[in-house]
Amino acid sequence: MKIKSSIITFCFLISISGSAQEDAVQKHLDLYRYDKDVLSNEFTKDRRDALRNLMVDNSVAIICANPIQNRSNDVNFQFHQHPNLYYLTGFTEPNSALIIFKSPVLYKGSYTDEILLLQNREPSSEIWDGRRLGVENVKEFTGIRAAESIRNFKLSEINWSNFNEVNYEAANVMLDKNRKVNEDLNDFKVQLTKLLRKRKINATSNKLNNFFSIIREVKLSEELTFLQKAIDITCSAQIELMKALKDSMAEYQTEAIVEYIFKDQGAEYPGFPSIQGGGENSCVLHYTSNRKVLHNHHLLVSDIGAEYRGYTADVTRTLPVDGVFSEEERIIYNLVLKAQNAGIRKAVAGNPFRSTHEATTEIIADGLLKLGIITDKKEVRKYFMHGTSHYLGLDVHDLGTYGPLQVGSVITVEPGIYIAEGSDCDSKWWNIGVRIEDDILITEDEPINLSKAAPRTVEEIERMMLLPSKF
Ligand code: GLY
Ligand code: MN
Repeated sequence: MKIKSSIITFCFLISISGSAQEDAVQKHLDLYRYDKDVLSNEFTKDRRDALRNLMVDNSVAIICANPIQNRSNDVNFQFHQHPNLYYLTGFTEPNSALIIFKSPVLYKGSYTDEILLLQNREPSSEIWDGRRLGVENVKEFTGIRAAESIRNFKLSEINWSNFNEVNYEAANVMLDKNRKVNEDLNDFKVQLTKLLRKRKINATSNKLNNFFSIIREVKLSEELTFLQKAIDITCSAQIELMKALKDSMAEYQTEAIVEYIFKDQGAEYPGFPSIQGGGENSCVLHYTSNRKVLHNHHLLVSDIGAEYRGYTADVTRTLPVDGVFSEEERIIYNLVLKAQNAGIRKAVAGNPFRSTHEATTEIIADGLLKLGIITDKKEVRKYFMHGTSHYLGLDVHDLGTYGPLQVGSVITVEPGIYIAEGSDCDSKWWNIGVRIEDDILITEDEPINLSKAAPRTVEEIERMMLLPSKF
């Protein structure tokens, strides 16, 4: 009887301590990540399988985290995970790497086709930089099959003679200044490079880039949800800017309005530095210093994109500071709009990637010729000097094959005309820079404009600019 009751007590204690452990894991996970709408483990598993399907037999792929970049002295730039690693795991910590095997390999007594290497939990670091997930929680969190501390991981635990091919982005060893914060990842890369050299194993990065271009080009529904959210936030920011823009506002103040909306609506950060180019800066394609004070006769090119759960929008609107386009501005604006509409019509599955650019270029060349701004269509590049489309996704210029357009991919259509002061044409056109950019989903059918919520025609913009602003 005595024995029986102590067995019951023992089992009871085990079950209490089991559930106490589960509670502790759950508590840690709750404090580790507050956002609930994140890439699901089913999605990231599916993406790892997609990569594995492209890999040849007897091969391995190694995908490393981005390094932490030092800004100066004790301050680092905000860490941003490498999109390829994020896409396959949803994991956002530095000092990590993912190893994907084409077929399961023996690792520490069991078979696995993947291992996520990550930094250890360390109270002394976490009190400064925030909570880490830790090997003990990462499987539950990401659904990854095997995980190991990057510091403790021994390359010798894997039988490398199994592999004919190692897909790996060449080692990118950090500057001395960054060595400490990137120590674990650096050490891993150094060990790996030594091993590959010693075993005369050829590591190739080209194929890995191609694999990611193939799998990231077409967006799955979870990705489209996040991309649409990023685009909706960005359209709201353009709308608030239209309402708020007025004489004597500085470019940095227009940037502040836009980025306030990004943060206020839950975006993590801008997906790229916000371009707020007014007056002569409307003709600088990637202007980002944003220090000029704007006045009523200026046009403002606002090229912005919120990043939401890793996915970034990219929407450009061009606005007259006083709320009304001048005669010349309206002519150039409507020419760019006409070109953009023609480009969007070409954003159809099966069309060559360049078809949007060919359509916009033809219309802009024809229009500039008729206006006497150029004397030969070949001169169009003087005033429209960039491409019309790029893929959009985890990167603003996202990966893709640039083959025929595919259903489920998202591209931008963004023609522009930029007539800088001193250009070889009538001075009435000088300092007019116009770009209009929308994010277009390729479907089985008609293209879908995901950013149509932001006013786009002259009339729509002028009407929106009349509305009161909360800023
Ligand atoms: N939004 C900037 C670019 O597409 O280059
Ligand atoms: Mn763009």
